[in-house]
Amino acid sequence: MRLNDAINIEDLHQMAKRRLPKVAFDFIEGGLEDERGLARNTEAFHKHFLLPRYLVDVSKRDQSQTIFGRKFNSPFGISPTGSAGLFRRGADMMLAEAAREANIPYIMSGASNQTIEDAARVAPQNAWYQLYAAKDAAVSDDLIKRTADAGLDALVLTVDVPVHSKRERNTRNGYASIRGNWLQAALSLKPSLLAEAMAHPGWIIEYIKHGGTPPLGNWTPYLPDGATPEETIKFNRAQVPADKQTWKELEHYRALFPRKLVVKGIMSPADALRCAEIGCDGIIVSNHGARQLDQAPASLDVLPAIKRAVGDRMTVMLDSGVRRGADILIALCLGADFCFFGRPTLYGAVAGGLDGVKKAIDIFRGEIDLVMGQIGAPSLDVLGPDFLWQEDWQRNQ
Ligand SMILES: Cc1cc2nc3c(=O)[nH]c(=O)nc-3n(C[C@H](O)[C@H](O)[C@H](O)COP(=O)(O)O)c2cc1C
Repeated sequence: MRLNDAINIEDLHQMAKRRLPKVAFDFIEGGLEDERGLARNTEAFHKHFLLPRYLVDVSKRDQSQTIFGRKFNSPFGISPTGSAGLFRRGADMMLAEAAREANIPYIMSGASNQTIEDAARVAPQNAWYQLYAAKDAAVSDDLIKRTADAGLDALVLTVDVPVHSKRERNTRNGYASIRGNWLQAALSLKPSLLAEAMAHPGWIIEYIKHGGTPPLGNWTPYLPDGATPEETIKFNRAQVPADKQTWKELEHYRALFPRKLVVKGIMSPADALRCAEIGCDGIIVSNHGARQLDQAPASLDVLPAIKRAVGDRMTVMLDSGVRRGADILIALCLGADFCFFGRPTLYGAVAGGLDGVKKAIDIFRGEIDLVMGQIGAPSLDVLGPDFLWQEDWQRNQ
């Protein structure tokens, strides 16, 4: 299939799968342990039905959404995805550029290959930075300062990685070796990796041409000059997660960062409320795409309770499992102000580089537009529980 022929996110997913060696694709795709959370994230959306209202003028449909005082062209943005450059060279900036062109937010990962300063150059109005706090508080503070100095509008603190999770696919197929040095691993330890690479020449040629595994760009300044990519990865691994981090640190980050502070990975109404009390501007309700705790509920399932707890005190956003424009509209009906997705744009980047990312964004945008027309919602502000079918039909009158 060519990129032009892709009509939905699943098509991009299949194209990405074909292009990458299994070990790399599995890192993107995988959850953890028994991977029950992955299905839960999808099913959470499938449990809801949109209730169409007819005889409404839908000749003009406006899917723009304003959050943090900024109007975006769509109610969605790109979640942070680490090591994206390993799957498609330069992917971080492709995501940034596509977000700028589409006027949606792009959250640069705390484990990105390119830097905060690169993101600010390519997408000054659209890039946010996601912080993985370091064990060394001076490093976290410096990353926050760099985000502020680069002029980015928002800092997103990810809190749902207090410890690493048990990602069994990665362990079984030797993902650590490609984050280290693929060729060395393939030749000396795992000949099967080499065979996989040979079966995916596009990816391996790109890998060799660019000198192997890309560095974790934001972490390089904290290492001696001339540090290798492998050393940046090792350093990051030693520093993250900051397992002693508590609410006290969040208060400190709040005091340090002068613009919008968002907490990502919030799943409990009590934690959401505490974020509001500390003065955070927003949260992303997220189970990290089912990559951290396999027994966690779907983020969509906890969304209504979180919204009830915080009301309009904060911007409430959501990710995990969004694959269709309709999924985004369902989340908005349940109280989200905005949605994000991680894998879909990464599939796009792998499948077709910058054009692939744009394609993923266009697919979501097109689907939202059509479904808004279908349900009789010319703008997003009319959405609410009345657009969701409930067994007790009288509540829909
Ligand atoms: C390959 C990959 C890498 C990720 N890296 C990060 C990361 O560096 N920081 C972070 O906060 N979340 C990370 N996430 C989680 C995403 O930000 C997001 O929460 C998740 O992908 C949403 O689920 P979805 O993929 O079903 O849309 C990653 C997810 C994937 C798939």
